[in-house]
Amino acid sequence: MTNNLRPESMQRITSRALAESFIAEQIPLLQEQIGDSKVLLALSGGVDSSVVAALLIKAVGDQLTCVHVNHGLLRKGEPEQVVDVFRNQMGANLVYVDAVDRFLDKLAGVADPEQKRKIIGKEFIDVFAEEAKKLDGINFLAQGTIYPDILESDGVKSHHNVGGLPEELNFELVEPVRLLYKDEVRQVGLALGLPENMVYRQPFPGPGLGVRCVGAITRDRLEAVRESDSILREEFAAAGLQGKVWQYFTVVPPFTSTGIKNGKRTDDWLVIIRAVNSVDATSATIEPLPYELLYKIRDRILAEVSGVNRVLYDLSDKPVATIEYE
Ligand code: XMP
Repeated sequence: MTNNLRPESMQRITSRALAESFIAEQIPLLQEQIGDSKVLLALSGGVDSSVVAALLIKAVGDQLTCVHVNHGLLRKGEPEQVVDVFRNQMGANLVYVDAVDRFLDKLAGVADPEQKRKIIGKEFIDVFAEEAKKLDGINFLAQGTIYPDILESDGVKSHHNVGGLPEELNFELVEPVRLLYKDEVRQVGLALGLPENMVYRQPFPGPGLGVRCVGAITRDRLEAVRESDSILREEFAAAGLQGKVWQYFTVVPPFTSTGIKNGKRTDDWLVIIRAVNSVDATSATIEPLPYELLYKIRDRILAEVSGVNRVLYDLSDKPVATIEYE
């Protein structure tokens, strides 16, 4: 790794103009580092990897290959947006890997949260390494490492889900946003023309919806998580809360409760709504949501998500609770 400490003289990127000058400085540096070689990037669709992709498309065009692994635990519409923005709009070389069955088969019957995280992390690296092997002449691996990652870890963005990189991915690293804080990465993303909903995306854990489908993941309960999450996000956006509440999502625990529908007893899942504010995730307080909004979300979830007969709102701060459920 090259110089990894932010110089004290480095100006904070707080405006469009500063973001544009950062981009203008980075492009020749990236061109110089990469030369005529090829560079590979795991593009999750999160802010950091998306900004790196957009920067590299500007700097080296089709010398970049992006790999998007759909592990089946992404939010509704995310894989489609990655393909649309990067392949269709920005003209990137994008390898889309549908690994949904592979991940869900490996996860079947696994209830232990750490085991689930390990499987997701390992499988991700395996899929990515397999794709890398199919490509010739790769010399560089681009990563969306940002400054807080460097301060908190050994500098390699391995999430806390995956171990280090395997031998076959042992390329020279390209980390153009490694000295930037998150708000600066967002400024750069906007200046690069990325959609606002991608740039202001809420934090999303590496294991994705997998940790919100508590316990052993089943496909139908995972769909209940995904559909209810999508409704929650739509209603938050409509209420002007997108980008204002730090993290909001739904959770479906692995048990059912009784209900009644058309005069008949039902035995269905429950959906928990979680909405919290935080600065750095070490502590969090719940967002006091208006009841009108909660009623609307409840009505839509009960009408539109199959297999659900109950909606709850989690009132717990962190601590004593954590943000996620496992
Ligand atoms: P907790 O549940 O520990 O979450 O209060 C704190 C923040 O971390 C995110 N989180 C994860 N992120 N891999 C990740 O990349 C994980 O395994 C993971 N677990 C929790 C969580 O969404 C919250 O923002």
